[in-house]
Amino acid sequence: MPSRPSIPILDLTRQHQALAPALTEAMAAVMSSGAFIGGPVVESFESQFAAYLGAAHCVSCNSGTDALYLALRSLNVGPGDEVITTPFTFIATAQTISAVGATPVFVDVHPRSFNLDLDRLPQAITPRTRAIVPVHLFGLPLDMGRLMDIAQAHRLAVIEDCAQATGADWEGKKVGTWGQIGCFSFYPTKNLGACGDGGAMITQDDALATTLRQLRNHGRTGLYSHELLGVNSRLDALQAALLEVKLPHLDTWNQQRRQVAQEYTRLLEGMRGIVPPQDGPGHVWHQYTLQVQSLPANFDRQSLQATLKAAGIATMVYYPLPLHLQPVYQQLGYQPGAFPVAERLASQVLSLPMFPELRPEEQQRVVDTLRQALALETKILLG
Ligand SMILES: Cc1ncc(COP(=O)(O)O)c(C=O)c1O
Repeated sequence: MPSRPSIPILDLTRQHQALAPALTEAMAAVMSSGAFIGGPVVESFESQFAAYLGAAHCVSCNSGTDALYLALRSLNVGPGDEVITTPFTFIATAQTISAVGATPVFVDVHPRSFNLDLDRLPQAITPRTRAIVPVHLFGLPLDMGRLMDIAQAHRLAVIEDCAQATGADWEGKKVGTWGQIGCFSFYPTKNLGACGDGGAMITQDDALATTLRQLRNHGRTGLYSHELLGVNSRLDALQAALLEVKLPHLDTWNQQRRQVAQEYTRLLEGMRGIVPPQDGPGHVWHQYTLQVQSLPANFDRQSLQATLKAAGIATMVYYPLPLHLQPVYQQLGYQPGAFPVAERLASQVLSLPMFPELRPEEQQRVVDTLRQALALETKILLG
């Protein structure tokens, strides 16, 4: 019998095949224009992305990491400042706080949303706190109304990390437009992905937009006039052209992700030991991440993953070690147990294949295999 095709965590070739003629044409137009850095295509994408989000300005850059770094720099966050964020995220969120010389201060996450626990956040505010960097993890928006109330009461800046949530909204207003600056990643696997690195910052503030434009381009105010210590972080024209082709499809793709997520949750209903992720109206389902809970004490998520892998099903663990326990952050002095929710999630989360083009029969196979693998695990462990 021929072996069944494997199911990847994400298959970008399906999206690219569907758009191949338009993507090829867009690339050819850039090649024949001879303008590869900046220029009309980059400007055109920036204005379309700003309009899509309802922002006054979009300043593109080289990555989501750079977007966070430049956003912090533009607000003059630096040495001596504390910036509150979540320990349950990709390293870039905290790394950029450290890169500007400030100190990341972690606050535990909510057990269902996986986002910053807003009940705990106020206790972390000190006279040195300058900003909050919330993350809309896995595409689920944080309650931005409540977060902005806390930030405004304490006069703190808010820089939204929207890397995983392009197109998500909280109460009808797009994430990224709530805080002073919203930061986006166009890393290929993101909901709106380029074919290389890319990122963007959005803001409603004219002066901040000007500073961000200068900072991303060597601090330039003229061709050879530099008022700020900037960096070279620009979106190239090829990436902008490809993103321009993809942007009009983003809402449809996010809707398809929603359907995939709802179908997973329906199929997983009642499965022992599995807690499906929280839904929400503005969720864009960058990941479908469940919690593997209440199985025998020595249950091993790794062996569950291995069983799924042997059956051709890819899964991922985002993230196996919370940031406060990463070796690079040992100097901050956090101990195991500091953030029990993030630590428990790190040991229990499992992300299933998730992309708009995932087929219903593939989803069924993922869930059937998961059910069989869990039954096998339980049997082995119970003897
Ligand atoms: C939450 C979060 N923040 C920031 C980033 C950084 O984005 P980039 O890879 O474009 O630098 C990522 C990328 O994975 C991310 O997931």
